[in-house]
Amino acid sequence: MQTPPWPPVRTRSLVVAAGALVAVPVVGVLLALTAFSSVPNGHARLTAPQAEAVPANALVNTGFEDGTQGWKAQGGGQVRPSTTAAHGGRHSMLVTGKDGKRPGASLDLAGKLRPGTVYGVSVWLRLPAHDPGAKLRLGMSWGWASAVQDTVLTSADVTADGWVRLEAKYTPVTAVDVLTADISPVSGDGEFHVDDFTVVPLPDRPQVTVPSLKEAFGASFEIGAAVGQQQLAGMEADLLKRQFGSVTPTNALKWTATEPQPQAYRFAAADAIVDFATANGMKVRGHTLVWHNQTPDWVFLDPAGKPMTPTAENKALLLQRMESHIAAVVGQYRGRIQTWDVVNEVIADDGTMRASRWYQLAGLDFIKRAFQAARIADPAAKLCVNDFNLSQPTRRDAMYQLVSTLKAEGVPIDCIGDQTHVNIAAPTAAQVSAALEKFARLGIDQQVTELDVSVYTDNTSVYTTVQPALLARQAAQYQALFGVYLKHRDKISSVTFWGLADNDSWLHTYPIPRTNAPLLFDAGLAPKPAFWAVVGDRPAN
Ligand code: G3I
Repeated sequence: MQTPPWPPVRTRSLVVAAGALVAVPVVGVLLALTAFSSVPNGHARLTAPQAEAVPANALVNTGFEDGTQGWKAQGGGQVRPSTTAAHGGRHSMLVTGKDGKRPGASLDLAGKLRPGTVYGVSVWLRLPAHDPGAKLRLGMSWGWASAVQDTVLTSADVTADGWVRLEAKYTPVTAVDVLTADISPVSGDGEFHVDDFTVVPLPDRPQVTVPSLKEAFGASFEIGAAVGQQQLAGMEADLLKRQFGSVTPTNALKWTATEPQPQAYRFAAADAIVDFATANGMKVRGHTLVWHNQTPDWVFLDPAGKPMTPTAENKALLLQRMESHIAAVVGQYRGRIQTWDVVNEVIADDGTMRASRWYQLAGLDFIKRAFQAARIADPAAKLCVNDFNLSQPTRRDAMYQLVSTLKAEGVPIDCIGDQTHVNIAAPTAAQVSAALEKFARLGIDQQVTELDVSVYTDNTSVYTTVQPALLARQAAQYQALFGVYLKHRDKISSVTFWGLADNDSWLHTYPIPRTNAPLLFDAGLAPKPAFWAVVGDRPAN
């Protein structure tokens, strides 16, 4: 395609590269924020108007030769075309405030960007004559109607003396409903001109020879990933098949998915995942049969439709529903799902049993009967109790006690699953080792079932970008964990990540909407520093 002339030919609406559009409004959050081409992060420079080509693949290009091209005023301001100043062509857009309020402008980009692609975002700014100066910022607002985050891409001091370019890289990492580009004052409350806003997909990173996790660790333990149907096609499916030997359906086997109404079983979503695994020689972990979350309300209603109270009749009915559910779901996949998380998250943080409705209504019997029912439904399947934060001494010791009691009573329990939703600072390798060593004394298999390493160490921080230093700390944490797993490979039969790549993780919405990057592959499915830390040194090519 020929490089268009400068000033570019402007059209009435946004210039959008049709081939780069996605069918659904998939737009996402910031992963990496560094300036593109050779311009350092957040750099801005005074530049005289010059002939400069807009790349032919520009996805968005608003030059304001024909109106404001979709830009809207923010904060009580106004936007209108202006010929007083122009970076290219004859027009810019002038943003003005109202009633002393700081003006701002935004452009809706929802549905136009593809998660995992790196985009260069660029805009030229200038103040009207005689304006003493202002600091202006370029940002993205992203999220969902109920929770929209504001991310600063870059900012710069702008004057009336010349055009200043703000540019940055932006990589959407997950699907969201809301995405707008925003230009607004950080300081100063005057008017400003905007021109030649562009969003351009940047070239893919160079390919390197990427080793396979399952080949690297297969002799020690199975390597798995939790997936939904969205991971079963295209590049994600290719990555899954190449890197992983096992899959866990993230949600498709939970009670709400499989038996939303009594005896009305639905297996289409889980079938798709199990069929994919079977066709590709992969194992399947079944997650999960009995949990206090994602269980339909009807399970806990008495025959009169009222919430069950702890009576003998209700306990019997509840356990009968549970056994019937387990028989149907485990039976459906008999011989095709090798391991089941029979009960999930039954321990409380203080080391007592979690006061779930299961426990309140049926005591420990719900756990015993669940394992017995699962064993009957598929005698060859490995049966696990699955829980989180098991490196924490209180929870660890409670799990030890529970399994010890159950085994002593002959309950058919084969393994302890430690979810391992951890972060870059905790737990320590020594804590992880201590739990593995303690559980080994039970003579039981162990699995890492939901591994991810959050880049946050609290529930409130929000980073505008996941900086390389954080990714380096994450790599160190992953390396430490795999060091422990390898040392204890005689005790562990599988390590499963809770997701395939950073474009799809529960940690983008939990505990609050924020950019996270918890897995070994980035939003573009490329291996991260953590991947190389786990498999060994990155090759030079
Ligand atoms: O299916 C509905 C969809 O119809 C609806 O439009 C959408 C709107 O929010 O919600 C969809 O359901 C969501 C479901 O994931 C599927 O995407 C639920 O709201 C959401 O709560 C659910 O979250 C799952 C969470 O378990 C539920 O507690 C996460 O995907 C899943 O990763 C997470 O997994 C758990 C493990 O099972 C147990 N250990 C912790 C782990 C992380 O929380």
